[in-house]
Amino acid sequence: MNSVGGKALGSSTVEQLLTVDDAERLAEAAVPPDAWGYIAGGAGDERTLHWNREAFSHFRLRPRVLVDVSSVSTETTVLGTPVSMPVLVAPMAFQAIAHEEHELGMARGAADAGTLMCLSTVATATPSDVAAAAPGGARWLQIYVFRDREVSDDVIAQALEAGFSALVLTADLPVYGIRHRETRAGFGVPEAGVPAIAAARARHAGDEHHALHLLDSGLEWGYVTELRERWNVPVVVKGLVTAEDALLACEHGASAVVVSNHGGRQLDGAIASLEALPEVVEAVGDRAEVYLDGGVRRGADILMALALGARAVLVGRPALFGLAFGGAKGVQQVLEIFRDETENALALLGCRSPAEVVRAHVTRA
Ligand SMILES: Cc1cc2nc3c(=O)[nH]c(=O)nc-3n(C[C@H](O)[C@H](O)[C@H](O)COP(=O)(O)O)c2cc1C
Repeated sequence: MNSVGGKALGSSTVEQLLTVDDAERLAEAAVPPDAWGYIAGGAGDERTLHWNREAFSHFRLRPRVLVDVSSVSTETTVLGTPVSMPVLVAPMAFQAIAHEEHELGMARGAADAGTLMCLSTVATATPSDVAAAAPGGARWLQIYVFRDREVSDDVIAQALEAGFSALVLTADLPVYGIRHRETRAGFGVPEAGVPAIAAARARHAGDEHHALHLLDSGLEWGYVTELRERWNVPVVVKGLVTAEDALLACEHGASAVVVSNHGGRQLDGAIASLEALPEVVEAVGDRAEVYLDGGVRRGADILMALALGARAVLVGRPALFGLAFGGAKGVQQVLEIFRDETENALALLGCRSPAEVVRAHVTRA
């Protein structure tokens, strides 16, 4: 049974959950306005937030016909890990603001849908609790680096111990974006419930700055190599949108990159993820896997990203919408909407699997 804010949904409401946009409406009704401002908002005038979606209308799919698509699979792999679809759950902070099941519900929903979840450093649950909640699930840890490196190192050590299989270094938050919607809604970082922030606070007693001031703004490319050498797991660099940075990521040993502008939450005016994808794919060649996030709301969006050279996409807000209205079950429902739409679009594009989607399947509008 589905529920919104703990209330059971009648079948007529359930029937309305056909699309990710339906999930967004259910989520907005289920969370308090300050949380919604944080979840839905972007930076500045929210131009990049808007462009991320709009960019999908700058490209057109080129379907091929009379291909035997009697058997279609959406399955693929990311860094060797099998996933049910080329859709992963993006790291998102503070999930307790969306639903009481918080990151544990997100982990269960992703595992039940057969895909991978990326846990934020500033989660409202520890990596070991998340791993215990969904033992079979595939997981990566997203990294924000605290000025006090030991805080980050402790989170990493705990995650690797709990079976997380890659580290995703977020590169586009050297400082926090200016987010008016968040400020106007009165959103405040729920510090007490965030183990990593609590640990950092404990080491900087008396520092009254905003919690994100505890993060290191001085990171450079050498840290990618450092991470890789120290922890001996694949490192993914998340949050680049240029060929130049993609090349640097490869040179410093990244196994994958995520073309991303943080869902339009950091530099307003930055290029849309999809627009940046082709130059990154060209720069990287076959040296690393390339993923994309930002504005993915439809199966056809996913195929456009694949055709432009992404191996998979990450979805942020859509997964959180699912969590907000229905906990783990809601997450699974939203991910299954993506899976079903991807399967349908693959068949209609004339492809039996994500691997069969190539550059010729897309053209600029
Ligand atoms: C509520 C929220 C919290 C986020 N927190 C993080 C985070 O802790 N670390 C991170 O790397 N990205 C974070 N992001 C960015 C997402 O990982 C992702 O890049 C973005 O949401 C993708 O855009 P989409 O929401 O349109 O799918 C957050 C995004 C949202 C919406």
